[in-house]
Amino acid sequence: MEKQENAGCTPPAPAMPIRPETPADTQAIFALTERAFAGHPHSSGTEPHIVSALRAADALTLSLVAELDGAIVGHVAISPVTISDGTADWYGLGPISVDPACQGRGLGSDLMRTSLERLAALGVAGCVVLGDPGYYTGFGFQVKPGLVYPGPPAEYFMALGFGASHPEGRVTYHAAFA
Ligand SMILES: CC(C)(COP(=O)(O)OP(=O)(O)OC[C@H]1O[C@@H](n2cnc3c(N)ncnc32)[C@H](O)[C@@H]1OP(=O)(O)O)[C@@H](O)C(=O)NCCC(=O)NCCS
Repeated sequence: MEKQENAGCTPPAPAMPIRPETPADTQAIFALTERAFAGHPHSSGTEPHIVSALRAADALTLSLVAELDGAIVGHVAISPVTISDGTADWYGLGPISVDPACQGRGLGSDLMRTSLERLAALGVAGCVVLGDPGYYTGFGFQVKPGLVYPGPPAEYFMALGFGASHPEGRVTYHAAFA
């Protein structure tokens, strides 16, 4: 098995540097995303392709990786969303992936915090996320009545504003998610 496909994570996880992706990371990010979502109950199996499609569309506002001993063991993508009320400059976090061998050691939390800090530093208005409220509310995401993503139960769609913007309407992810 190639090194990139086996992170060899051993507890406790060392503090791993988080950095923007480079072209050399593309294949490892695809494989990591595939591993992380394999067998996930809410996965469509499309997540690695979504990341690739976002990259191809130049829509990866942020694409951060965590690396351990030369292997990519964590990744998070952030891309622009549109909101039906016309509010601009909001983004969607995800997919986020941690190698199954490294999960539960705080790496996902590090990726969440770092990506949100870097997104806020860009001066953007806010970020949405679709996923487990038990996980994402821990990073400041909240359900915002009026800001909706059709389909999943309302409690799974959350937002985090960085400023005074309080959009209301229907959120659409980048076409790469389709
Ligand atoms: C979600 C994911 C990125 C979290 O990464 P991680 O490195 O395991 O997360 P952490 O170790 O930072 O977890 C922090 C805490 O959240 C908890 N947690 C992890 N996933 C959770 C979930 N889905 N719901 C609720 N809590 C969760 C952990 O148990 C941990 O709690 P603790 O600190 O009290 O022990 C990782 O589990 C993963 O890649 N999952 C598969 C892909 C996926 O589901 N991505 C999210 C949807 S886009």
